[in-house]
Parts: sequence; C-alpha cells; structure tokens
Amino acid sequence: MRAPASREPMRIVLLGAPGAGKGTQCKRIVNRYGLQHLSSGDILRGQRAAGTELGKKASGFMDSGALVPDQIIIEMMIDEIKKAPIAGFILDGFPRTVNQAIELDKALARCEQEIDTILNLQIDDQVVAERMTGRRSCPKCGAVYHIENLKPKVDEICNNDGTKLIQRPDDSPEVVANRLKTYHRQTKPVLDYYKNNPGAREIYDIDANKNADEVSTLIFERLDVLARA
Ligand code: AP5
Repeated sequence: MRAPASREPMRIVLLGAPGAGKGTQCKRIVNRYGLQHLSSGDILRGQRAAGTELGKKASGFMDSGALVPDQIIIEMMIDEIKKAPIAGFILDGFPRTVNQAIELDKALARCEQEIDTILNLQIDDQVVAERMTGRRSCPKCGAVYHIENLKPKVDEICNNDGTKLIQRPDDSPEVVANRLKTYHRQTKPVLDYYKNNPGAREIYDIDANKNADEVSTLIFERLDVLARA
C-alpha cells in the first residue's frame, strides 16, 4: 500500500532495544506507506564512513556501546526531519534520551507538527543477544539479514546488489551487553515520557519476540487504520 497523496502525513517514532528489529521493520513500513526512514545509527555510520568531523566525534561512543552526546544527535536529526517528504517519516533510534524527545517535540511544534504514533517493540534481553551476534548487513544498501532467521539467498551476499555482507563492529557480545545497559538506563525512560505526555498521539506496544513477518503484521494492523484515516 503506497500512501495516497491525500492522506494526512504519518510521523512515527519506533522505539525498542538494540536488536529489537527496528531497522528490519522500518524497511517494510517505508515500502508500504511511502515514508522517509530516518535511522540515527545509519546516518552516524554514513558520517563515519565518509570521514566527516561529526563521524569522527561519534565513533568512540558507538564502538563502546555508549550514546553519542545529545547536542550532536539532536541537530543532526532535526536537519534530516526538515528534509522529509510530505507523506511523513519514521524515526529509528531517535529519540534515545528524554532530552532528545523533549527537543524533538519542541522542534516539531515550531512548524505546527507533532509525532502522531509511537510503536514500542518489546523484546527479551536474551533474544537480543542471539539476534545481534547473527546479524549481517549490506555496507552498500543497508539491508539487514540474520545467519539463521533471515538468510540471504546466497550465503554472505546481499540479495539486492550482490555486495559481500559484513558484521557490525558494535555487535560483539561485550559491546551488545553495554548497549543493552545503556538502553535500560537512558532509552527506556523515553517511553514513560511519551506515556506521561501523550498529547494526541497513539502509543502501541508490539511483541517483537515473534518472527519478523508476525511482527510486521501486528504493526500493519495498527498503521493501516491510520493510513486510511
Ligand atoms: P543503532 O544503529 O540505532 O543501533 P540499535 O538501536 O542498537 O539498533 P540496531 O540497529 O542494533 O538493531 P535494530 O533494532 O535495528 O535491529 P535489526 O532490525 O538490525 O545505533 C548504533 C549506535 O549509534 C548506538 O549504540 C549509539 O552509539 C549511536 N546512536 C544512534 N542513535 C543515537 C541517538 N539517538 N543518541 C545517541 N547515540 C545514538 O535486527 C537485528 C537482527 O535480528 C538482524 O540480524 C535481523 O535480521 C534479525 N531480526 C530482526 N527482526 C527479527 C525477528 N522478528 N525475528 C528474528 N530475527 C529478527
């Protein structure tokens, strides 16, 4: 389902622990509703690969599983949101602190907009660990695979462009453990922020322990209603 030109824009935040499947589901959501996918992690990795000042500043934080400082991220993401198409956007990995959520609300309010939907992917920590160690990604198009759950057609090769898949440096067990700690300490409170300041937005909890197709079905059931509104 592509977005009809006449429907209201969709402005979605996708929350969830590292490895909850945010990137995997975003690609499917974007295909179905014609939204812009804005992944803070992908943008940071792109900056790092391009050797920019921003990428250099972010690098050490990313490698250790810590968060990149708010002032860097907020400016970077608000700039990207301003370029989003009329159909709307889905934010993946941002906001990740309560301060980022507050600054996002303020920036959108300045253009008379607001986040209308929060999708919260709920997953057990032990499932995260299994998913992260088996993840493989395409360095060219960003497609995400898993060595057991979501295999490419040819081992270690991207289905889309034939590029050799890589393992992300921050997917080692030690760094994954740190990323999970960071998530519980700094990112989980973002959900409480949205629950305590709901405004007109809808908040949906989604069971992300299920397989990727089942998770997509749960998400589409919710978003199809909004897309028809
Ligand atoms: P980022 O890239 O955002 O990493 P993350 O949030 O830790 O999320 P991931 O990309 O690791 O996981 P995902 O939920 O997208 O899962 P995926 O779909 O790949 O951030 C990286 C770093 O950048 C951070 O640590 C931080 O330093 C920095 N950063 C980024 N944003 C920031 C911010 N706002 N503020 C400060 N710092 C920031 O799936 C994982 C695996 O599981 C894949 O192999 C996939 O094939 C498989 N899989 C997916 N769904 C399923 C399923 N349902 N069943 C079985 N397997 C599945």
